[in-house]
Amino acid sequence: MDINIQPTQNPKPRPDPETLEFGRKFTDHMFIAEYEEGKGWYRADILPYGPLKLEPSIMALHYAQSVFEGLKCYRAADGRLLLFRPEMNFKRMNRSNERLCIPYIDEDFALHALMELIKTDGDWVPSLDGTSLYIRPFVFASECALGVHPSRRYKFMIILSPVGAYYKEGLNPVKIVIEDEYVRSVRGGIGFTKGSANYAISLKGQEKAQANGFTQALWLDGVERRYIEEVGTMNVFFKINGEVVTPMLSGSILPGVTRDSVIQLVKRKSIPLSERRVSVDELLEAQESGLLEEAFGSGTAAVISPIGSLSWKGRERIIAGAGIGELSRGLYDQLTGIQYGRLPDPFGWVREVV
Ligand code: COI
Repeated sequence: MDINIQPTQNPKPRPDPETLEFGRKFTDHMFIAEYEEGKGWYRADILPYGPLKLEPSIMALHYAQSVFEGLKCYRAADGRLLLFRPEMNFKRMNRSNERLCIPYIDEDFALHALMELIKTDGDWVPSLDGTSLYIRPFVFASECALGVHPSRRYKFMIILSPVGAYYKEGLNPVKIVIEDEYVRSVRGGIGFTKGSANYAISLKGQEKAQANGFTQALWLDGVERRYIEEVGTMNVFFKINGEVVTPMLSGSILPGVTRDSVIQLVKRKSIPLSERRVSVDELLEAQESGLLEEAFGSGTAAVISPIGSLSWKGRERIIAGAGIGELSRGLYDQLTGIQYGRLPDPFGWVREVV
């Protein structure tokens, strides 16, 4: 399918890279493809970024049949534009699509569309250390109907946003509270997808956490309410007595691209790592006996985010002296080094935009 490109006649001023927030500014163009039952994906355009004309009855607004992805484009010191494992995102998008009865999107085509869009807006990729171009692919049900059934029309879009750090803390440790009232997901649900509804369901816990002075809520499993799952915007890792431990993918946790990359980087350092169930009790005991050496979150938006304290039922436990642990710092440096093309890429993760 050819992509029609309609360049903007009104390019926007580029934002000051020093004051970039996360996801507040958008580039000059957007990608949009259309699907209709019987026709398949039949049209693809790159258009000036701007409002969509949609009827109030589109199904995504009523029944949350929508999914998204998140990845970044980095500017290397020599000016090259680099993507980090983008094929993983489009594969995961199709797993989300499958679970939400959204039609398959050819992954090579999606990557091609992304490359074309980035080339159109290439000068929006910031070069300041720690900044990047955040990429947001998303798919939503656009049939106008109120009956509950899979939509017969969809739009697949990509928008781009030059960003700074996701958390205002940057690489400084965040304060996390373990949520004991609400749950994010249960096995058999959509926790493993990037279904938009997963994020709607997390808002209440996040609001509560922030009202109490925490950065984010850490979710427990929805059945026994004992096992650590994820933060919603990040997967989590703990270093306990020399071993790195992360919750196993149980169906209710997002299989993060950064999570997978961290696992491979840790294994390469020959540090023991296991993906298994981790209970709150185990964590608290490890912290009390001094064996919980480090904790950190991983995510595309958040990168590596050291966890300085974990709170549970009103008691705050300090981790790694509320500082940046050696492993977290090392992983951050290694990961961003590969992403920005400063370090060798032994895994072949980086794809240049050409
Ligand atoms: C990401 O890390 O890209 C995410 O999707 C998390 C959040 C910004 C929703």
